[in-house]
Amino acid sequence: ILSNADLERQVDTTDEWIVSRTGIRERRIVAPGQATSDLAILAATNVLEAAQRGADEIDVLIVPTCTPDHLFPSVSAITANAIGAHAAAAFDIQAVCSGFIYGLAQALALVESGLAQNVLVVGAEVFSRVTNPHDRGTCILFGDAAAGALVVRDEDGGPSGFLGFELGADGSRGDQLIVPVGGTRHPASEPFDPDDAYVQMNGREVFRFATRVIEDSVLRLLDRLGMTIDDVDLLVPHQANQRIIDHAIGRLGIDATRVFNNLEHYGNTSAASIPLAMAEARDAGALRPGMRVMMVGFGAGLTWAACFVRYEPE
Ligand code: ACO
Repeated sequence: ILSNADLERQVDTTDEWIVSRTGIRERRIVAPGQATSDLAILAATNVLEAAQRGADEIDVLIVPTCTPDHLFPSVSAITANAIGAHAAAAFDIQAVCSGFIYGLAQALALVESGLAQNVLVVGAEVFSRVTNPHDRGTCILFGDAAAGALVVRDEDGGPSGFLGFELGADGSRGDQLIVPVGGTRHPASEPFDPDDAYVQMNGREVFRFATRVIEDSVLRLLDRLGMTIDDVDLLVPHQANQRIIDHAIGRLGIDATRVFNNLEHYGNTSAASIPLAMAEARDAGALRPGMRVMMVGFGAGLTWAACFVRYEPE
């Protein structure tokens, strides 16, 4: 656990500044030697145990991540092998903090088309390895985590728990949130400025984008479904910054008692943040069967994603 007090010793910051600007008090950081698949394996195992399913029942394993162990092989292939999902197809999705909802959309499409019966989606990130420990503008924000969900085909062919999706991307603003080095534009095989191997972010610009896109994507989706914000029993937003969430829910006109947050303990865990919040909401009794839940995320790309579900655990 990396606390704000620990960060006070690392960079020129204060607990008061971090809490007032972000709401974050602590984040989880992997142990030396641990990589993203190590977290994904733990989360995948937990999901299967909770769903009382065997790894051999998984048809497809999708890992939304932007911090993979390697450029390739994928985290999903490594994870599938480790958990014994030997019959599963496996691929990663790169939509950064919107990744989990993009992954759910893929899972639904695979299940509804009949291509798969059981699709495991595990958002997994180790942002601590791409965050500059000396950049106070970013190192305070991120944490490491993995969490997931199993999307299963309804044996009765009944109505899907998925009510709708709103997905989007605006690549024209890709440079606002970027890790410049390590891909094919600036390969790690060529000399580079070490700072360029870390997250670089225009915080104010991302803040503005986030508050607007949460409101816009949620309202567009509800409008398409002929619903209003009053039809949302629980809102589970991407856990990036409490101020972003407060601004957005103010604009949406949804009461804070219908919004679940846990970023205080984890910071921004990117593709893991929404499933982690969903799991904790369930454990806390805030997410109950039959509830209509709006998940909404945004991230680098820039990307955004909203998904409205009727929560129907098996
Ligand atoms: N401690 C103390 N002071 C700080 C810190 C810090 N950790 N970080 C920045 N400051 C200073 C700045 O240097 C600046 O000082 P100056 O006025 O002397 O220049 C001052 O605080 C204000 O800086 P801002 O950047 O304007 O602060 P802001 O209120 O915008 O908060 C923050 C910064 C928290 C990063 C905010 O912009 C934010 O949350 N943006 C969105 C970030 C985000 O959610 N990113 C993830 C997206 S999801 C994904 O894809 C990974």
